[in-house]
Amino acid sequence: MDFKTQVIGAQGLSGVGAEALLVLVSGQQVPEGLDPALADALSAAVKDGDFAFKSGQTLYMHRVAGVKAARLVFAYLADDTAKTLRKSIGLSVTYVKGSGARQLAVAAVGGPGWTAAQAEAVVAALSDATYLYRETKPSAPPPSKLALVSLLCSKADAPAVAEGLLRGDAIAAGTLLAKECANLPGNHCTPTYLAETAKSLGKEFGLKVEVLDRKDCEKLGMGSFLAVAKGSAEPLKFIVARWMGGAKADAPVVLVGKGITFDSGGISIKPAAEMDEMKFDMGGAASVLGTLRAVAQLKAKVNLIGIIPACENLPSSTAVKPGDVVTSMSGQTIEILNTDAEGRLILCDALTYAERFKPAVVIDIATLTGACVVALGHHRSGLFSPDDALAAELLAAGDKALDPAWRMPLDDEYDEGLKSSFADMANVGSRAGGAVTAAMFLKRFTGKQRWAHLDIAGTAWKSGTAKGATGRPVPLLTHFVLARAR
Ligand code: BES
Ligand code: MN
Ligand code: ZN
Repeated sequence: MDFKTQVIGAQGLSGVGAEALLVLVSGQQVPEGLDPALADALSAAVKDGDFAFKSGQTLYMHRVAGVKAARLVFAYLADDTAKTLRKSIGLSVTYVKGSGARQLAVAAVGGPGWTAAQAEAVVAALSDATYLYRETKPSAPPPSKLALVSLLCSKADAPAVAEGLLRGDAIAAGTLLAKECANLPGNHCTPTYLAETAKSLGKEFGLKVEVLDRKDCEKLGMGSFLAVAKGSAEPLKFIVARWMGGAKADAPVVLVGKGITFDSGGISIKPAAEMDEMKFDMGGAASVLGTLRAVAQLKAKVNLIGIIPACENLPSSTAVKPGDVVTSMSGQTIEILNTDAEGRLILCDALTYAERFKPAVVIDIATLTGACVVALGHHRSGLFSPDDALAAELLAAGDKALDPAWRMPLDDEYDEGLKSSFADMANVGSRAGGAVTAAMFLKRFTGKQRWAHLDIAGTAWKSGTAKGATGRPVPLLTHFVLARAR
């Protein structure tokens, strides 16, 4: 889908040549100065009780007299926030996404005009609403015909709208990449597939991509990562992708994404119900790839490095066993009491590896704990950081991107449960506060780095009838990285 701006006043809307016209209405009455043909249609609808100036209202009309666009949609905007706009677009696009319309024009009337954040939200809402997984489903309905969306705006708003569209487009492309990767079944999206995806992204966008294999990881002493990977015949990959858009001396932002392409739990095997959803356990990795794509597409003047430890977590005669003790790359030993707490075991070595880049900040992103889903549900990702300034930056980025997070605690008291009689630490504590103990485990591997951890177990995908990846937190991460660009 392509997006562009078109400068036009509210009086000219009936002449807009697009095949569909979406008019977002604010205020408590038919806006003054609205094109007469549209104003007449809207007042008639209000009189007939088919439209009200209330949140959630939408109305579809076909071939309205005096209106050039064959399809006309009205949608009510209760306020001028990007969040409300995203909802409103999501509701109204259902009328046109499966129609014959190839072009859609979007206008806002009765309100203050467009902001960059709103333009970005329009792109996010439309690309979300028109996305459908079809990679392994030949019977899926054909893609939406919508190919061109114009935002109708005033001359004064046009620069901000153009900026919002550009950013929105990059974030949407990154989010789409993350969704496609995460939705692919585990037998398709293997560690090797993730590595190939990173390489082709590198070719297309000028990233430097390096892929380490088992032997390399052995040389580096990644005993913890290797312990998880050895239960599977599928070869592990340790992916490092760099976007060096900043100055040479700029310390990079490093993103570390959990890339478990299937999590059976290993010897501490999971129950059968919903185990299929553990193909999404590489959602952190997918979000790192998506963010790299977005940032590189925008040619942002920033250095960004993505690190992805990728493997499967399976039970087998070569799998790691409960009670086994391994030595991590940091030299610290770990007693693996539960092989299903594998995310932290692959991330800890990646966090140690990250130190060589002398990062400005390192952020890991992981579908890490069921406990985080219990704590926060599916709306906000869990954010953990001992660094108040960094936590504030990430929370703000999430709010701006409509991809929100919520800060969780990291008091030393939560570390107690990780004590082991046989190693420097155990990989699990008690059940209570499980999202926090997982973060406390990771904290032991962050050294002097400025670090934050995002637990996206509740936000990376949706279950139920609309099962599928969300592409989160690509919007949060992209906003965060862009805010740090020169
Ligand atoms: N990938 C899972 C976390 C998960 C579970 C995410 C369900 C989303 C939904 C992770 O590897 C895991 O299994 N964590 C365990 C940790 C426990 C053994 C301490 C969990 O949350 O049960
Ligand atoms: Mn697990
Ligand atoms: Zn897992």
